[in-house]
Amino acid sequence: MGLFDRHAGLLEAYRDVRTTGYDPFQIRMERVLSPTKAVINGRETLLVGTNNYFGLTFDPSCMEAAIEAIRAEGTGTTGSRIANGSYSEHVMLEKEIAEFYGKKHCMVFTTGYQANLGVISTLAGQGDFLLIDADSHASIYDACKMTQAEVVRFKHNDPASLEARLRRLGDKPGHRVVVLEGIYSMLGDSAPLREFVDVCKKHGAYVLVDEAHSLGSLGEHGRGLCEQAGVLDDCHFVVGTFSKTLGAIGGYCVSDDPDFDILRVTVRAYMFTASLPPSIVASVRQALRVVKARPELRTQLWDNVATLYDGLRAQGFTLGPEHGPVVGVHLPDRTTAIGFWRAMLDAGIYVNVAVPPATPNGVSLLRCSLCAVHTKEQLEHMVEVMTGIGRQFGVIPNQPPMRAAAGR
Ligand SMILES: Cc1ncc(COP(=O)(O)O)c(C=O)c1O
Repeated sequence: MGLFDRHAGLLEAYRDVRTTGYDPFQIRMERVLSPTKAVINGRETLLVGTNNYFGLTFDPSCMEAAIEAIRAEGTGTTGSRIANGSYSEHVMLEKEIAEFYGKKHCMVFTTGYQANLGVISTLAGQGDFLLIDADSHASIYDACKMTQAEVVRFKHNDPASLEARLRRLGDKPGHRVVVLEGIYSMLGDSAPLREFVDVCKKHGAYVLVDEAHSLGSLGEHGRGLCEQAGVLDDCHFVVGTFSKTLGAIGGYCVSDDPDFDILRVTVRAYMFTASLPPSIVASVRQALRVVKARPELRTQLWDNVATLYDGLRAQGFTLGPEHGPVVGVHLPDRTTAIGFWRAMLDAGIYVNVAVPPATPNGVSLLRCSLCAVHTKEQLEHMVEVMTGIGRQFGVIPNQPPMRAAAGR
């Protein structure tokens, strides 16, 4: 018996994935040229799988802020927030994020993963109930492994299913903490948040919303789905990440709970890891200013979503249920998905491929994510390339379904 025998199933699946000749999980960006272009396998490639929703990784003001911070305060803090790793800028960033949401408190973490892991596993303790959507991100599932609370799953985006679970708990003692996501990361669908919040209110449950993919992209001011649905005041905790719209790395949690700061000495994922380096804190602070000052980036992002989503749907592709900054393209099985992904890369377009066991309901997907600074031409070109490959693989008809119907 070898040490890795218990991963035999996964090893076989991984071997399968690599039969295309490329390993999609070890793609190397040889040179990143811009938010939408990189050199991969020696070739200039269009990037449509980076979560870089506003394209801020190359924003000159964010880059300058980071460089200046390195000059002023060095490359790293070399310590945790509860030791030597709290600089004035970390505290300023927390104040600015709290203000952005109109909440009283904010804690900043070294990654979004750690924010979810630490906060969710700590909020619900022994005797409590943690209720999560079945399609939750891995960081939420991992928090469930760490919590002392009883974990209850409800059907994806189904407030009636949540209500049934809460009703079943009856008057058992213990807090109920419900965890939702603004936009789900694989199919780009958003939660029916208002309905969920109504259910939670009725049953006295706390609500935590992970806005990882919706910060910047949703809401009049970019505060996410909570803002768009008008329920920011009803959501007790909002978690997010700096690694997508804000173009850096890190995570946060905001809340109005008066005792929120106790998490600073109870959340191990905050206490026992080094804090964000000054350059990241500076670029994130600047990126937040850009999000506030340039709402047109949100408009551009959604225009791009429409170009890609509507373009692919018109050709007969099966997509996630609604427009979103993530466009999930369904493919019939893992082998087709990997082959399709490779054909795209050979044609100079990078997207993510997502296959079981990492996907909801065992689906195989090409996961595309849009950027405000993609051009219409780039996205129309992508639709054309995907249409050619889709026809070659037999996953879409040779005629766009609309045209075929019209011609009948
Ligand atoms: C919904 C969701 N939450 C949390 C995270 C973790 O964020 P980070 O990658 O910044 O650690 C991700 C990242 O993919 C995500 O999609």
